[in-house]
Amino acid sequence: MSFAEYRELIQDGDTAIVFLGHESMFPVTIQQGGQTQTKYGVLRHSTDLIGKKYGSKVTCSKGGWVYILYPTPELWTMNLPHRTQILYSTDISMITMMLELKPGSVVCESGTGSGSLSHAIIRTVAPTGHLYTVEFHQQRAEKAMEEFRQHKVDHLVTVKNQDVCKNGFGVSHVADAVFLDIPSPWEAIGHAKDALKIEGGRICSFSPCIEQVQRTCLALEEHGFTETSTLEVLLRVYDVRTISLQLPDFGKPAEVEKGDGPDKSRPVPTPQPGTAQFKSGVSPRDMVGHTGYLTFATKSLS
Ligand SMILES: C[S@@+](CC[C@H](N)C(=O)[O-])C[C@H]1O[C@@H](n2cnc3c(N)ncnc32)[C@H](O)[C@@H]1O
Repeated sequence: MSFAEYRELIQDGDTAIVFLGHESMFPVTIQQGGQTQTKYGVLRHSTDLIGKKYGSKVTCSKGGWVYILYPTPELWTMNLPHRTQILYSTDISMITMMLELKPGSVVCESGTGSGSLSHAIIRTVAPTGHLYTVEFHQQRAEKAMEEFRQHKVDHLVTVKNQDVCKNGFGVSHVADAVFLDIPSPWEAIGHAKDALKIEGGRICSFSPCIEQVQRTCLALEEHGFTETSTLEVLLRVYDVRTISLQLPDFGKPAEVEKGDGPDKSRPVPTPQPGTAQFKSGVSPRDMVGHTGYLTFATKSLS
């Protein structure tokens, strides 16, 4: 199992996702002899999981069943242990597209945080690209490295435990893109410029507050970045629901004049006061609102 490629069968040491429903899933490390409790009973790794195909429906000891899913970065984002605030797939998809990431891209990131974005970047740039990720909190940097090893993507990522505002990314003129998710991104713009390839390259900074965005935009301009733009991604989902609506009462219709024409026999519709039921797309009352602003810019050609 690797987060950067696909394998069909569940093996000892894999990280798998136990899926009970969209609102209920969790990651599990597969171990010979290991057991996992679910509300449907126990899952025995050796007999119930190892050797089975990912995506299988597996019956637990009390008769209920779960699906065992291959771990993708999207599922990891929904299930990872939070050590910090994290980025979710809605923002991640926009970041990946606007930074033009693809297999072979070299990317610099700070901070690593809980590694939510890092996993998505690694999967996108694999098998020939690389992620340099900088985190100044020592335990977070170590935990991220441990997870990358366990998820078999450590050859695609270098974790540096240092302050990106003081010491930069530890690489010069190699990156196709830089991503910042730190409280004072404006202090890291000079280092970002240095990390980017000599000509061109894209940068993105994520900030929850507009004051942070303003300072970052000024710093981008000072360092000669162009095409600066800030956007916010809001996800609005629609549920399909059966709804009832009161029918309007337009009063008694005018009698259709009877004549010799083709609609001689047309019936006169009778108004039906009351309600009608029909299916419609309805947005939920509560939706995830503001997460942060994404500021993008391009390193100009010199
Ligand atoms: C909000 S979290 C990043 C979350 C990450 N994007 C994710 O999706 O999991 C911000 C991280 O930046 C780190 N950080 C803040 N300032 C930093 C700096 N100057 N240098 C390196 N890391 C920094 C913090 O320790 C924290 O772990």
